[in-house]
Amino acid sequence: MIEDSEIALLLQAFQQLYSPPYPWLKVPEYKVGKHGLWTLDRFDENVLIHGYFTGVQPAKHNYRLKKGNTLWMSLTPMELESQSHHALAAYGHTVVMGLGMGTLLYNILAREEVTQVTVVERDSEVFELLHQIASPASWSGWEKARFVFADALEWKPDEHIDYLTVDIWSKLGDYNLRPDGQRIQANVRADKVALWGQELDFITFLAHQGYEPPPTLEQYREYIETIGIPLIESDNPDYPSYCMKAGNNAIA
Ligand SMILES: C[S@@+](CC[C@H](N)C(=O)[O-])C[C@H]1O[C@@H](n2cnc3c(N)ncnc32)[C@H](O)[C@@H]1O
Repeated sequence: MIEDSEIALLLQAFQQLYSPPYPWLKVPEYKVGKHGLWTLDRFDENVLIHGYFTGVQPAKHNYRLKKGNTLWMSLTPMELESQSHHALAAYGHTVVMGLGMGTLLYNILAREEVTQVTVVERDSEVFELLHQIASPASWSGWEKARFVFADALEWKPDEHIDYLTVDIWSKLGDYNLRPDGQRIQANVRADKVALWGQELDFITFLAHQGYEPPPTLEQYREYIETIGIPLIESDNPDYPSYCMKAGNNAIA
């Protein structure tokens, strides 16, 4: 016989497993489309997939953005969780590097704290596709957006940037995240920065330093100091534990 208190504990554990620390990105309406090498298609099969911070869960009715055979973005729990805090941190003049299917942009434009958005994207075809697969002109805050077609690694702003969020990699845990982030920030000099998958690079840093889990905020600040990029969440004492979850899910 299971006691009520044990059931309560189990429920709490399940809630922790499936409640992301930040609300998921909101998703605009999409429809399938194709432009040049880019396609947005729909994936209706039921699959089980890890969230970024949370446990295994079903992912269906999912759109996928591909260029040729390369998958660039989808609407899985993994994608919607891994960028959620990047949207929440956006303010002032925000630079979004990597348009993709515009899901992160949709969330950033809607924020009152964001006054202006510069999107840096190297492939104008994906911008053309966006107008086929969604109705971006109807998105809240669309008038704040300006698009620059350039290589994120080379682009330099001509004014002060408050916040920079970079998602130019097709896979989580890209080996180039840190050098790309450093090269980009050397040009942009934003006050705050988010790099997609930065949690995994922090966990790698901890392993190289020989630190035992659980990670601490002090170690996260040491990591920020070491890589020289003013990353988000440097005042959140819970953030290192989220990084640990992301690290565990990445190898699960
Ligand atoms: C993973 S997708 C971005 C997904 C986006 N965060 C979203 O919510 O839909 C990456 C995007 O970055 C672009 N990209 C890749 N390398 C780039 C570079 N060096 N400079 C600018 N854009 C780049 C790709 O063309 C693609 O549109």
